[in-house]
Amino acid sequence: MTRLPFSIRGTADVTELHPRTGDATRSEHAPAAPGSMNRLVVISNRVPLPGIGPRAGGLAVALDGLMEKRGGLWFGWSGTVSSTATDRPVQVTTAGTVDYATVDLTPEEHDRYYNGFSNGVLWPLLHSMPDLIQYDRTDAQIYRDVNTRLAAQVAPLIGPDDLIWVHDYHLLPLPAALRACGVANPIGFFLHIPFAAPEILEAAPDMGDLVTHLLEADLVGFQTEGDMANFAAAATLLAGAVRLPGNTLSVNGRRVLLGVFPVEIHAQEFAGQAEANARKLPVVRLRQSLPGQTLILGLDRLDPTKGLLQRIAGLRRLLETQPEWKRRITLLQVAAISRKEVGSYRALRAALDRESGNLNADFGEPDWLPLRLISHGVDRATAAGFMRTARVGLVTPLRDGMNLVAKEFVAAQNPADPGVLILSRFAGAAQQLDAALLVNPHDADAMAEALTTALTMSLAERQDRWQALYNAIEHRSPLGWGRMFLAQLLRGAVRRGRFEHNDEPVRAYAEA
Ligand code: G6P
Repeated sequence: MTRLPFSIRGTADVTELHPRTGDATRSEHAPAAPGSMNRLVVISNRVPLPGIGPRAGGLAVALDGLMEKRGGLWFGWSGTVSSTATDRPVQVTTAGTVDYATVDLTPEEHDRYYNGFSNGVLWPLLHSMPDLIQYDRTDAQIYRDVNTRLAAQVAPLIGPDDLIWVHDYHLLPLPAALRACGVANPIGFFLHIPFAAPEILEAAPDMGDLVTHLLEADLVGFQTEGDMANFAAAATLLAGAVRLPGNTLSVNGRRVLLGVFPVEIHAQEFAGQAEANARKLPVVRLRQSLPGQTLILGLDRLDPTKGLLQRIAGLRRLLETQPEWKRRITLLQVAAISRKEVGSYRALRAALDRESGNLNADFGEPDWLPLRLISHGVDRATAAGFMRTARVGLVTPLRDGMNLVAKEFVAAQNPADPGVLILSRFAGAAQQLDAALLVNPHDADAMAEALTTALTMSLAERQDRWQALYNAIEHRSPLGWGRMFLAQLLRGAVRRGRFEHNDEPVRAYAEA
């Protein structure tokens, strides 16, 4: 198996961070001098291998930039399914400062670990949608087995001073699996999606064990306070942890720190992308296809958590109660196909096709349709241009860990003539973006009212709201987010005496 060179012992680059945003006060974009940091090992199900293009979903958006700037090892699934997966060694590709180490999945592993348990059980359960779970005991077993295999394959690549950062719901038992392989390094875990209340979690019999295994990490991070509170409740009720002051749990004599680290975007960079792309052909053609109409935009993966049917119901209610909007608005809804082997996703596709067809048939005219539904994804640059050209952004999930599209919509707006964000109260982003029009997506009348408010809002109010929203995201970045998490992880390791070198600057930051 390939053994990678380790960086030499030293402190992480956490000495000059803004304590709230995590932004570096000096040259954020300058790569750290080689050897000045503990090497970062990121482990996630998806690995955006160089050359395969951008992937949909918040995890890639959050981590791509961080890894590019900081360097390190990124380990996970190659995206390939092959019957010989378990016999094949780890594949390593290097691009810039990042080593990508990946393994394939067997067809059975893909079917049961990825589709069956991760996306058929954990995804709906953690989004508090237990009615959607399709529980199967063998899926749960293979989910655990894959985590055990991944741990055994990455363990020999880990050096003594590496910081390990595990991501998301596919890998809940990985911290314990790594410990079982003798990995004593600091382990951080970040959950990109929500965490549900214990009484919901109990619908899957394995949750107590999974929470226990996750508690082998040193730091567990969440998007919101609510997710962290649910996890703390589950850890005490299902895994026998004891709560200590300061967001700390005690488990079998060990301390596990919990924290809230909302994922961010690079607002200025995205704003530049939006401005540049608003002039490009796909956006110009979209505008030209909407003479005299106001564009309402939704950009999502086709996923039961995104509230797509409820969005159509809201538009239907608007057109029923206020027919004067006919011919004056168009909803462009991108619902990019995702996880199509999972039953609930297939059922949603069928329901969405039916509801969108019904809406257009009921309200459409020979020369106008209220809804354009697109099932293929749009690249991020074009999406940025679409956002800038839209008057209303509809981001109305039934439940969402964060929803970076909400933040991107804000960043994409023209400050002189900004669009209006309609945001679900149940998206993590609503904690920061409370100057948006916040809605309950289950309430079709409330959705219709929010649409009317957005469509008729004065320029002055649009500008005021947009400024408040932009202020909430402007000075944050994915890099700052990553640094905040890693600084916290490193501080814990120093406190435990895991790294014995002089960490004066780390301590100074911790106490700031
Ligand atoms: C969400 C999850 C990510 C996942 C992404 C794409 O953002 O939090 O972990 O990578 O969706 O989903 P996929 O199933 O295609 O990896």
